[in-house]
Amino acid sequence: MASKTSRDVLGRGLGVLRQAIREQPRIFTIAVVGSVLFGGMIIVSARVVGTVIGEVALPAIERGEVGAGTLALAAAALFGISVLRVAGIFGRRLGAGYMQYRLQASYRRRVTRRYLELPLSWHHRNSTGTLLSNANSDVEAAWYPIAPLPFAVGTLVMLVGAIVSLFATDWALALVGLAVFPALFALNVVYSRRMAPRQARAQRLRAEVSGIAHESFDGALVVKTMGREAQETARFAGRAGELRDSLIAVGRLRGVFDPLLETLPSLGTLAVLVVGAFRLRQGAISVTELVSVAFLFTVLAFPVRAIGWVLAELPRSVAGWDRVRRVLDATGEMPYGQRVLDQTSSGPATLTFRDVHFSYPPAEAHQAGAQVLGEVGFTVPAGRTVALVGPTGAGKSTIASLAVRLVDPDSGTVAVDGVDVRELTAASLAGTVALVAQVPFVFDDTVRANIALDRSGIDDEAVWAALRLAEADGFVAALPDGLDTMVGERGTSLSGGQRQRLTLARALAGRPRLLVLDDATSAVDPRVEAAILAGLRPSTAQPGAPAASILVVAYRRATIALADEVIYVEQGRVIARGTHSELLATVPGYVDLVTAYEQAEAERAQESAYGDEVAPLPSGLEIEVDR
Ligand SMILES: Nc1ncnc2c1ncn2[C@@H]1O[C@H](COP(=O)(O)OP(=O)(O)OP(=O)(O)O)[C@@H](O)[C@H]1O
Ligand SMILES: [Mg+2]
Repeated sequence: MASKTSRDVLGRGLGVLRQAIREQPRIFTIAVVGSVLFGGMIIVSARVVGTVIGEVALPAIERGEVGAGTLALAAAALFGISVLRVAGIFGRRLGAGYMQYRLQASYRRRVTRRYLELPLSWHHRNSTGTLLSNANSDVEAAWYPIAPLPFAVGTLVMLVGAIVSLFATDWALALVGLAVFPALFALNVVYSRRMAPRQARAQRLRAEVSGIAHESFDGALVVKTMGREAQETARFAGRAGELRDSLIAVGRLRGVFDPLLETLPSLGTLAVLVVGAFRLRQGAISVTELVSVAFLFTVLAFPVRAIGWVLAELPRSVAGWDRVRRVLDATGEMPYGQRVLDQTSSGPATLTFRDVHFSYPPAEAHQAGAQVLGEVGFTVPAGRTVALVGPTGAGKSTIASLAVRLVDPDSGTVAVDGVDVRELTAASLAGTVALVAQVPFVFDDTVRANIALDRSGIDDEAVWAALRLAEADGFVAALPDGLDTMVGERGTSLSGGQRQRLTLARALAGRPRLLVLDDATSAVDPRVEAAILAGLRPSTAQPGAPAASILVVAYRRATIALADEVIYVEQGRVIARGTHSELLATVPGYVDLVTAYEQAEAERAQESAYGDEVAPLPSGLEIEVDR
């Protein structure tokens, strides 16, 4: 079983290498030529050293005199060989480096590009940590063996040359070579096989350690407020300890095999000297030849290790490659259509949901996905504002995602101006609809860049106009560098409500004809929220507002009251629709929800009036704290 899988790994590893060569054939050729030049020079240098010793040094010692010409010639030959060797190393190193880093860069690009093409459902199934390690360490691991590959290929050529050169010298010495070289090769193979599982374990632990670190830093707030520092540190220390042990296991194996790999060629040299002395006495070989062969054995040891390096990296490479391929081969991207909506009219768009059913893909492939939406049908007429109201988990965000085509329905249609959104081009869709998501996202960049997003035609004036509509111009103007202020992780931190208004301004700057607001102003105080919405509704719009139809997920009575129509959803179904007062009169669930929310807000307002030194914890959290 184990040997079957390691043979499997060897076969697949060679497949990965073939792929690399196919992608970078020219640079690979340069590196291999450099490596072969280096290997060839090793064989030639053995001959030259032998000749210098046999023809120059020995006679000089015997006769006590050296011809200056001979000496100069020997020196020149050795120098020439060194230059060629250096050139070979240079070509090999440069070529291998170029090849490795080019492949890495190219696959990083492909992987991240693929992330953006893959549908949201795919992203729901894969954690941020996995995506990061796919694009980083997995891509790197896949191309690790590229660095020693040209060296190893050159070495193989050199070994063949060495055997030929040995046979040309003497069959008895050639037999020593035939015994030592394969033994070296076999030892390398055993080494890498032993190493493979240890390396794989270390690689997995590395990912786990950084995953834990990522999570604890990300959740620093929870860790601190819940007093979990000690437990988190222990969790991290445990895994870090395992990583240390597994790296020590790698080191221990290296400690055993490295000396063996060094010793074997020395034993070869010894055997050459013993056999060679015997053959010399028989008169079968000359001193020159004996010295050449002995020298060859001493310089061969190092390049042969390159083969071992490649073999040792293959398991890790295959593991990384498999993880990279999983991303590149993932299917389910949403193909865009060819149709373009008429933008010239530029009036508000109509949104229609017709008998939409939707279920999220199951976490495990064998499970069935639970239906989240069923028979959802409604219309947001051009220029109207429709509020989407419902208890938590009812499917409001899912409806919002469908409206802007982050996901596609299982059945039924979502249409803008009567055209199925699946038939629209990406640009037409993006130019027509905009979503302000429930969780605002701010890029680590300037305010201007966060709003304009490099879209054409959005100058500073347009940015300010969008900020005004989002009631965000005031706080942005007060920022130290105005539009140039860095915000996000490394810049100025924004409050929750400021973030929401910034993302709203981002959506408005594109002048969408349909605006989908998913609880997008929940952190903004109610008066400002109502002002924003009133400023956007075509009937009460501020000058400069995009003429947009609005689908707004809302809770507050004041916000809902601004809508022309309310759609009430529960458990993925449209329960009722009508004006706010109609629903208040006829739908008990609606009354409960809106009243409960209002009470909660009133209580919150009262509490903050008493000062905020004792922030009440949401229920459920006290238990943890009391511990
Ligand atoms: N990525 C997902 N994968 C699987 N199920 C999901 C996913 N996102 C949401 N759901 C499920 O779909 C249902 C509807 O979720 P949705 O986010 O649309 O509710 P919501 O009405 O927006 O709730 P809230 O008011 O809390 O924002 C919930 O039962 C939720 O558990
Ligand atoms: Mg939601």
